[in-house]
Amino acid sequence: MTTTINPNKALWEKGDFARIAATMRESGEALVESLGITPDLAILDLGSGDGTTAVPAARRGASVLGVDIAGNLVAAGNARAESLGLPNLRFEEGDASDLRGLDDDSFDLVVSIFGAMFAPKPFDVAREVVRVTRPGGRIVMGNWIPGDPTLVAQILRISSAYSPPPPEGFVSPMTWGVEDKVRERFTAAGVPAERVDCEQDTYTFNDSRSPTELIAAFKSYYGPTMNAFDAATADGEEAELQAELEDLFSHQNTADSGTSIPATFLRVTVTR
Ligand SMILES: C[S@@+](CC[C@H](N)C(=O)[O-])C[C@H]1O[C@@H](n2cnc3c(N)ncnc32)[C@H](O)[C@@H]1O
Repeated sequence: MTTTINPNKALWEKGDFARIAATMRESGEALVESLGITPDLAILDLGSGDGTTAVPAARRGASVLGVDIAGNLVAAGNARAESLGLPNLRFEEGDASDLRGLDDDSFDLVVSIFGAMFAPKPFDVAREVVRVTRPGGRIVMGNWIPGDPTLVAQILRISSAYSPPPPEGFVSPMTWGVEDKVRERFTAAGVPAERVDCEQDTYTFNDSRSPTELIAAFKSYYGPTMNAFDAATADGEEAELQAELEDLFSHQNTADSGTSIPATFLRVTVTR
């Protein structure tokens, strides 16, 4: 019997995104606060990780399902839900481009913060999130922006420069940060263009550790950076990659001690 490896799943199970997400909790809380969540809402958090947005949404009393392709992050999310005493929050494995286990029109709000953007087949993702959102419901995506000078867009740019080229036909996740592409995908899924709103917003990465220690966390736990270091090490370019990241993190850090780095993203709100 041959086992087919899903590279998208392997990328995120390779590391432990929960170690990075720990630096994103304050912005997750702020984003959820801005969504006006009430206990009567049924919410899907897609590409939920271990619950940076799902946990604060559930704390507001909503019924929340986190879906993520990485089994280790689903387990971490369920452990958080249990330890925080949130019976209205659960996580399960799934692929944002194929939500076949979820019924049509079943969520009032679908949130995907730097999650579904990483799924292959972006038109399938748009079709699936529209399908599971009830008419009149909302879809909110957070997507990193290609060419943006701030932290994560630059980490991903630098990481891909050192990584092997993607397979033919691969659509860059960063295309979810281009307004025209976002509108094209949602209109193909049946949403009128005027119901797709895009604006820039900021997520801040806060950590008591130094920028250099935070880079070490990305190197050990963030799939795209792990792959870049693997390839750079094989090519004898590890020092160059490390230096590029050191330069990026130290120039963007706004904290006197520890690390605080704001990163710009495209916030997409779709009314179904
Ligand atoms: C950058 S992390 C963000 C996690 C979380 N939303 C947060 O803000 O902490 C990207 C997440 O998307 C998940 N992911 C990637 N591809 C996916 C797919 N096809 N379907 C569902 N989740 C996916 C990864 O496993 C990972 O948890």
